[in-house]
Amino acid sequence: MGKQMIKVGLIGLGTIGGSVVKLFENNLSNINKKNDLQLVLERVAERDPEKLKSLKIPTENKLSDAFKLVKDPEIDIVIELIGGIEPARSLIREALENGKYVVTANKDLIATHGDELLELARSKNLNIFYEASVGGGIPLIRPLKYSLVGDRIKRVVGILNGTTNYILTRMSYEGLEFDAALAQAQENGFAEADPSSDIEGRDASYKLMIMAGLAFGCSIDPARVYVEGITGITAGDINYAREIGCVIKLLAIGEELPTGIALRVHPAMIAQSHPLASVNNEFNAVFIEGEAVGDVMLYGRGAGGSPTSTAIMADVVEAARCKSGHAVCSVVENKTTGTVYVPIEELSSRFYLRFLAEDRPGVLAAFSKVFGDHQVSLDMVIQKRRVGDLAEIVLVTHLVSEAAFRTALDQVMNLVMIRPNPSTIRLML
Ligand code: HSE
Repeated sequence: MGKQMIKVGLIGLGTIGGSVVKLFENNLSNINKKNDLQLVLERVAERDPEKLKSLKIPTENKLSDAFKLVKDPEIDIVIELIGGIEPARSLIREALENGKYVVTANKDLIATHGDELLELARSKNLNIFYEASVGGGIPLIRPLKYSLVGDRIKRVVGILNGTTNYILTRMSYEGLEFDAALAQAQENGFAEADPSSDIEGRDASYKLMIMAGLAFGCSIDPARVYVEGITGITAGDINYAREIGCVIKLLAIGEELPTGIALRVHPAMIAQSHPLASVNNEFNAVFIEGEAVGDVMLYGRGAGGSPTSTAIMADVVEAARCKSGHAVCSVVENKTTGTVYVPIEELSSRFYLRFLAEDRPGVLAAFSKVFGDHQVSLDMVIQKRRVGDLAEIVLVTHLVSEAAFRTALDQVMNLVMIRPNPSTIRLML
């Protein structure tokens, strides 16, 4: 008897969808041979008829209505690549209700509704695969789901957003201000026309939620993730970071502490010698710290159609193995509820702080006293540039609780000789 043909339906022909089609066109015979499968890209749903035109599949298999595809009895595996919450969520639910395995790159949806969708898949003896939702072509979901499942994960720390890493790299290498670096990222295809989700840190926070849910085996409430983007970072901050032997990166950090789970995304100064400091441009990297395994670092292209399409194809192959009975594919994610979160105020960091102050006697003494009164110990103080009749003061604290630092900072900002809008960046690693 010949091998069972496994028919794949694809929804969405954007950048990633287009690359998935290319991978099917260029690598399918190799994939089928290597995996002893008979996969085929059967149908594609896309609202823009222009995008469907050049597809090398019969016209009757080109659909404008994705709901038709997810109900189609011919289709075994649905790839959802439209992104966003609706209609993606309804399409995936419908696909599962109709007995199909699902592959998705949709981080927003998996981060916020993943538990509900996995539960539905479990109840139908099906599964949802989402390797492409985090880190593009870097394998991050499988290592957490399978390879490291025997260890206790203490921490995941990563550069999970290619757009912001590209912007910070260009600011650092070319001395650009944020707006110029963003424009360059957009020109070179590394930032969307609306880059807000990336530059404000939301994209990285969704990816962190997905990783943390797997790493710590718990449901994650999006409202409990502290998120701060990179829009306030200036070329001046980057220069000062260099002076103290650091670079600035947007980090996503998930930790299991004795008191609960702490999740945060924010810019951080890290030592130039740290391996994450040399992760540049659109590249991503993640450190996973296990109790027994120690540090595992995964590095690669975290965005872009071609790298991401490989993660999707790996999921399609896994789904096809399930469908053809080569593998048992029950949902393995077991997320405990009632997660206890440690708010950022209870964490400690070293802080970099930059502000403008009147350049006259007693200013340094005044803000030093406020910090001293709140047990904020200063490690470095730099005052070397005058901006008009103002002095630019840069200081770095020793390790201090967020709450104490913020209270002290509020009081410093109330001093008449200090100008508003300070820049604060945590020092990490
Ligand atoms: N803009 C995102 C990034 C794409 O740069 O990482 C993948 O989420």
